[in-house]
Amino acid sequence: MILVTGGAGFIGSNFILNWIAATGEPVVNLDKLTYAGNLENLVSLKQDARHIFVHGDINDRTLVSKLLEQHRPRAILHFAAESHVDRSIHGPEDFIQTNITGTFHLLEEVRAYWQSLAAAEKNAFRFLHVSTDEVYGSLGADDAPFSETTPYAPNSPYSASKAASDHLVRAYHHTYGLPVLTTNCSNNYGPYQFPEKLIPLIMLNALNGKALPIYGDGMNVRDWLYVGDHCDAICAVLAKGHLGETYNIGGWNEMTNLDVVHTVCAILDKLHPDSPVTPHASLITYVKDRPGHDRRYAIDARKIEQELGWKPKENFETGIQKTVQWYLDNMQWVENITSGTYQKWVDKNYGGRNVS
Ligand code: NAD
Ligand code: DAU
Repeated sequence: MILVTGGAGFIGSNFILNWIAATGEPVVNLDKLTYAGNLENLVSLKQDARHIFVHGDINDRTLVSKLLEQHRPRAILHFAAESHVDRSIHGPEDFIQTNITGTFHLLEEVRAYWQSLAAAEKNAFRFLHVSTDEVYGSLGADDAPFSETTPYAPNSPYSASKAASDHLVRAYHHTYGLPVLTTNCSNNYGPYQFPEKLIPLIMLNALNGKALPIYGDGMNVRDWLYVGDHCDAICAVLAKGHLGETYNIGGWNEMTNLDVVHTVCAILDKLHPDSPVTPHASLITYVKDRPGHDRRYAIDARKIEQELGWKPKENFETGIQKTVQWYLDNMQWVENITSGTYQKWVDKNYGGRNVS
């Protein structure tokens, strides 16, 4: 049994679907179901006893303690977070509450549980903290990619809150011996991503003939990784990672935002020629830049590749093709998530069953 936090979000739900298919090992999924949490992502597991959904907050220590006692997980995979940079700029408080205070409360309950385990279980136990490359700040055009020894220099309230949580996780290892692992990953894309993030936002606006907003000059660079490759990397770190270490995860796939948007538009031109406005790229509109917008992220993924033998299976060309096709095939999911009816769907389908 493993316990996943934030398993109804984009990466967490991809992780649970892949994990249960690959290992069959049961998962307790603790998720607050914020605007970003969507149980419809996990509908294929609705009748599956290996997925136990618990509606709750990582800040609820009574609940976390009860879940640990009841299910006795061998590992915690901590995905739960407020994840969107723009939202952190408009209102940082939830980011502090969940990413910092929430991680602290979770760590405290996990520490108490871990200390109560018998020697063999205690040795085998793992706390894997899922974090981001944004903690390293911004690179210049000629700088070497981020490595695990790059100093932290977070620039947004989001990245600062993630950096704080990384430091807490590190401290619980060095102070209390908690067996932790931390991953710092680059930008993910793929199925079930909430359409506030660049790729799904562009795709859906393009399909609806709406402007495609490009912040600043569109030359900011991100290192894109298909979400399934991120999930595989997390499995590799959980199975083989060295305690107390951090692992950078990335796809060696640096692209400017403009290139990403043009690629998505070109795929849509082929797969969806009947959109209200074509070519889709004619909708590109330059808008005011994001405050403090990091110019470039790039990941040096040699450590995880060489030490743990992980490599991404998808390149951007194959991954983005699959992703666009997934959204075209799942327009009802998009409709539900954008209209807000998915909360009603949750109540209808999980009402009375979702609290452990
Ligand atoms: P997401 O916003 O899609 O999902 C977050 C999930 O956490 C949601 O289901 C939400 O309901 C849940 N949640 C939020 N606050 C909670 C709380 N207090 N208690 C319990 N559950 C809570 O995020 P994502 O994109 O899937 O990211 C998952 C993790 O991966 C985050 O920690 C993020 O920092 C990290 N990360 C994301 C990316 C990316 O490109 N999306 C890249 C690197 C790292
Ligand atoms: O690098 C990992 C991080 O990637 C994760 O930790 C975050 O959780 C995740 O949200 C993502 O952060 P970004 O800020 O890089 O992702 P976002 O999709 O918001 O933006 C990607 C780039 O596109 C960024 O340079 C801003 C730009 N952008 C974004 C939006 C939403 C636009 O130009 N227009 C837009 O409308």
